[in-house]
Amino acid sequence: MKILVTGGTGYIGSHTVVELQQNGYEVVIVDNLSNSHAEVVDRIEEITGIRPGFENLDLTNTEKTADFFKRHKGLSGAIHFAALKAVGESVDKPLLYYKNNIGSLINVLQGMNDNNISPIVFSSSCTVYGQPDILPVTEKAPIKKALSPYGHTKQIAEEIIETTVATSSIKAILLRYFNPIGAHESALIGELPLGVPNNLIPFLTQTAIGIREMLSVFGDDYNTPDGTAIRDYIHVVDLAKAHVVAIDRLLNNKGKSKVEMFNLGTGNGFSVLEVINSFEKTTGVKLNYKIVERRAGDIEKVWADTTFANSELGWKAEKGIDEMMRSAWKWELALANN
Ligand code: NAD
Ligand code: UFG
Repeated sequence: MKILVTGGTGYIGSHTVVELQQNGYEVVIVDNLSNSHAEVVDRIEEITGIRPGFENLDLTNTEKTADFFKRHKGLSGAIHFAALKAVGESVDKPLLYYKNNIGSLINVLQGMNDNNISPIVFSSSCTVYGQPDILPVTEKAPIKKALSPYGHTKQIAEEIIETTVATSSIKAILLRYFNPIGAHESALIGELPLGVPNNLIPFLTQTAIGIREMLSVFGDDYNTPDGTAIRDYIHVVDLAKAHVVAIDRLLNNKGKSKVEMFNLGTGNGFSVLEVINSFEKTTGVKLNYKIVERRAGDIEKVWADTTFANSELGWKAEKGIDEMMRSAWKWELALANN
């Protein structure tokens, strides 16, 4: 079975391609390399012994995307990761985010529809919940007003998929990721942030290795036990494995409806200070950090209710926070030695 993986040279996509290939799927990656490197294809081959197909293509290009689908008749399904994901940048350049994230999704769905390709697995985010009223948050929680154009693209994308599958033969699973971190055990693939990282873990590991002087902890006056904000961090390999389970479920017609959504988290919340403690304990490296003002737009706390994903998908995140820190640090060290 051949699966199209859009955004497959990116962070989560590359880990998913590895898991797909290790589970017998053939993969063709489409990526325009706007936030990743072609060498990732070599790294995937190094890990799995199998070279995935790769096409450098901008999925917002309607004609070229239609042409891709015409040339790849034998596709059994798609996992759509391709998107821009920098929350802050999306506030400054909303049209870029709507055009890229919505335009590429529409072209992919059109290509699937025109060529009778189903199913699709879509990368959504817990950002669709905003600050939930009840924690842990379940898939039934209301979708709140998005805090950024990026978050809005995920809400719109979910709606586009829901309305499209209602009138086509495409089936879908929407996966709402919590906070993916860590890297593959081989340290051959991982997160490659361009410029100054926005996210906690790449900033933390870059500080520990000396690229950044100090990690700023954004706020210690939240209504949490130690005052710092809480997230549900999930190891990227656990996340990648859930995509294989999702595509298996769809291809084996195990879905209960034409579109299903699942939270992908561990179900455990960790504060920023707890993450720092875990990093220092696991790696033995002392981190330079200071408490600063809250970051605008951050929510206070969120963690997943994973009951539905655990029972329906038969999938459960296995790796804990210490393992996430260990692999993130191993990856940062590997980058430094390159
Ligand atoms: P990433 O930037 O590493 O990967 C995305 C890939 O998509 C990149 O390789 C990029 O070059 C490619 N891409 C972007 N626009 C494209 C286009 N128009 N045509 C072709 N390729 C294009 O990001 P990631 O962290 O791997 O995220 C993957 C998906 O998961 C995204 O949809 C993201 O929004 C979603 N997500 C990520 C997180 C997170 O914290 N990393 C959380 C929730 C959801
Ligand atoms: N944080 C710091 N210092 C930093 C960076 C982050 O204290 O330098 C804190 C944040 O305030 C937050 C926590 O660390 O409390 C996690 O922040 P991240 O930026 O790593 O992640 P977010 O939860 O803000 O957002 C991430 C992705 C979004 C995605 C969301 C849910 O950036 O794209 O997870 O999946 F939508």
